[in-house]
Amino acid sequence: MNSQAASGVYGPVRDDLPRVETLLQSLRPNEFPFLARIMNHVLEAGGKRIRPALALLAGKLGNYDLDHLVPLAASIELLHTATLVHDDVIDNAPTRRGRPTANALAGNAATVMVGDYMFAHAAELVARTGNIDVIRLFADTLMEMATGELHQDMSAYAYGEGTRDYFNRIAGKTASLFATAAKGGAMVAGAPDEQVEALRAYGESLGMAFQIVDDILDFSGDADEMGKPAGSDLMQGTLTLPSLILIERYPANNPVKRYFSGHRTESLRRSLAMIRESNILEESFNVAVDFRDRALASLEVIPASETKETLTDIAYWVTQRRS
Ligand code: IPE
Ligand code: IPE
Ligand code: MG
Ligand code: MG
Repeated sequence: MNSQAASGVYGPVRDDLPRVETLLQSLRPNEFPFLARIMNHVLEAGGKRIRPALALLAGKLGNYDLDHLVPLAASIELLHTATLVHDDVIDNAPTRRGRPTANALAGNAATVMVGDYMFAHAAELVARTGNIDVIRLFADTLMEMATGELHQDMSAYAYGEGTRDYFNRIAGKTASLFATAAKGGAMVAGAPDEQVEALRAYGESLGMAFQIVDDILDFSGDADEMGKPAGSDLMQGTLTLPSLILIERYPANNPVKRYFSGHRTESLRRSLAMIRESNILEESFNVAVDFRDRALASLEVIPASETKETLTDIAYWVTQRRS
């Protein structure tokens, strides 16, 4: 889904998101035209922009000062996009956001440099908030995300992980940034402590639901609709909730184990078929719904408002999305 299709649910901040976009577009490394073109290609493709939308919405809980909220939102989106740019190098992915990836167009070396440049700029942008607590939060989040990613990459084709490892891994690589988007926006706006904490908890649970849905769509989704390849997690040796449930159900001898030990296409095909033809995706979806409901429960302390309604809509949208 592109940013326009998603922005329908972003309610009162929808008209301010273009300011985030303008800031993002202004960040090209103009002294290096080749890298600038690649960065342009990546940022122009859009994306759902859910994290910056959350940061701005959280800002509505206090002093909604766009001069500080826009750099925060842009910083978070840039950090997210940089992780995708590097993720696609590691996975050798051909498409993202409905376009060829940077690595497919420009090769791995240039793409890694562009990712590095984006990480650097993300840090510079968050410093523009002038809020030391937010800068510290950003640094901690970067650490958590890198650790979550490393756990995933280092455990590729490692059989024997359980759902607990999975939940820890996605808490780090995905939910931490959702939590920081929501909490950071509330902090920059000087919202009351209780609401800052509510938004952090909301973002964290929402991020868990979001990643579980992403992992389900990897089995059931349509590559064209998603704008990125489907069916690749297991192929790359990444265990996600559906494959972990399959392993739990058939512990003795199952095709995932055979695939991981021999990398044989037939075992991969069999694993995918068993997951798609069982109720495993439904069971995984129920777990995503549990996290969504936790996110909704976290909003209880937020006073009734258009902002609260929008945060609620976003939570439902996350579990209904197909891209
Ligand atoms: C993709 O994130 C990576 C995950 C955490 C699953 P998004 O689905 O938010 O990607 P874009 O930004 O919309 O392309
Ligand atoms: C998200 O995970 C990657 C990061 C959070 C860095 P995925 O690997 O599932 O993301 P997609 O599916 O490639 O978008
Ligand atoms: Mg990936
Ligand atoms: Mg995925």
